[in-house]
Amino acid sequence: MNPNYVRVFDTTLRDGEQSPGATLTSGEKVEIARGLTRLGVDVIEAGFPAASPDDLEGVRRIAIEVGNTLEGESELQRPIPIICGLARASEMDIDAAWEAVQHAAHPRIHTFLATSPIHMRYKLRMEPEEVVDRIQEMVSYAKSYCDDVEFSPEDAGRSDLDFLYLVLGEAIKAGATTLNIPDTVGYTTPEEFGSLISSIIANTPGIENVIVSIHCHNDLGLATANTLAGIQSGARQTEVTVNGIGERAGNTSLEEVVMALQTRRAVYGLEMGIDTTQIVRISRMVSNYTGIPVQPNKAIVGANAFAHEAGIHQDGMLKNNETYEIMQPETVGLYRSKLVLGKHSGRHALKAHLQEMGYELNQEELNSAFERYKDLADKKKNITDADLEALIEVQTYLSQEVFTLDGLQVACGTMGMPTATVRLLGPDGQLHIHAAVGTGPVHAVYQAVDAIIGVANTLVEFNIHAVTEGIDAMGEVTVRLQADNPSISQRTSPQNGQVRTRTFGGYSADTDIIVASAKAYLAALNKLLITSRKYRR
Ligand code: KIV
Ligand code: ZN
Repeated sequence: MNPNYVRVFDTTLRDGEQSPGATLTSGEKVEIARGLTRLGVDVIEAGFPAASPDDLEGVRRIAIEVGNTLEGESELQRPIPIICGLARASEMDIDAAWEAVQHAAHPRIHTFLATSPIHMRYKLRMEPEEVVDRIQEMVSYAKSYCDDVEFSPEDAGRSDLDFLYLVLGEAIKAGATTLNIPDTVGYTTPEEFGSLISSIIANTPGIENVIVSIHCHNDLGLATANTLAGIQSGARQTEVTVNGIGERAGNTSLEEVVMALQTRRAVYGLEMGIDTTQIVRISRMVSNYTGIPVQPNKAIVGANAFAHEAGIHQDGMLKNNETYEIMQPETVGLYRSKLVLGKHSGRHALKAHLQEMGYELNQEELNSAFERYKDLADKKKNITDADLEALIEVQTYLSQEVFTLDGLQVACGTMGMPTATVRLLGPDGQLHIHAAVGTGPVHAVYQAVDAIIGVANTLVEFNIHAVTEGIDAMGEVTVRLQADNPSISQRTSPQNGQVRTRTFGGYSADTDIIVASAKAYLAALNKLLITSRKYRR
């Protein structure tokens, strides 16, 4: 064990997916897990299998499709991440987690039980002694399935220190190999959290034989600071999510911790297995699939994170980039609007350039990407890396489609009623046509789509922005919607067992923003249909 190596444990697909509106289909989860593997994370927490048959299936697919080497490949060429499933401290949850993760080359079961007085008393209604017994029993039970067991004392940030040393020591005796210390409600300050980790390391019997992990929430905007303080105190696994998505104000953001450890290596002196050039790509993928936009001023991955617009900054930048830039955009996979290909570039040039950007497409995917590329080149003179990225992301979305947009015609302006005629190719192989009026062109399109698909829903968010600069830029649209029928949209929280309403996100990009709006809406509705098990993908 290298004492300076920090393991990155990504929980985007579990704690991240618990954030309101982040519902993902199992196909999208697999794509994100592949992206996380390219990024080089050490552990993927793929979900909470006991939540529903769909959740179990999502984790099982990741264990099979992402958690193993490909035929003829060795782990020396491409390290395979640990695939982890979350379980409450109950036999039923642990059985479900094992059922899902056992197919991975490196499976892990992560079980948890609250240890703070307020949680034990009001949520669990258990005496502290009963909590200790349950932890011993359930860690041993998980260990009977799997060598790699992680235990978390939920709400550790508000737990009594002596009680924590006791339960953590018992968890180690019962076979836990990673002890994760969560600040579940984002309550601690960096000084407190750092000292909590030091005290645990100093006082827990047997701690030298396990990995100490940290898991912070961002309720006070301190998740990254607390995580870095925990790492400085000796934690060697950090639990994070892409874009910091997660319950309430979110979890610690992967990109912030990774870039802090890398950019300030002289301060931290630590190593990770992350390929930082994959950061922007995974950030966009997660945002597009969840329908949760990234705030423009978000560190590392926000649209303005590397933009230097004020005149004084630009002048300094032209003389020397380092005047205002502490990281090069290329290190996170953001290329300075590189002009890449033109209208006459061929299939080979496209393939080679996509490979350079880290996209390995099979022949069928390449053919489809090339068709879309030619289509775009007819409408847009200069195609940049950002355009290509949007094009590939849209393509990945296509594989999720149940209804496809086959034709769209819109009349709008000041002279009449906004009217849209929509033609969809349905899962029955038939074309369905409908015309509708609306308060504007997008509304008219959505009315027509609703009339064809016939699933009552409420649009809760609609966002549009330009992928690149210029009048011919592609517009990117993300939407989020909820089914009006509650039985389609419900899921259980692992922490408090509460049933919540799911939100379905959709994404698309096109030079025509009405077309992008139609496709994004269809993508969200397709996801709703797939999740409602009407059509399986
Ligand atoms: O925040 C938390 O306490 C959790 C645990 C399940 C680790 O997410
Ligand atoms: Zn959490």
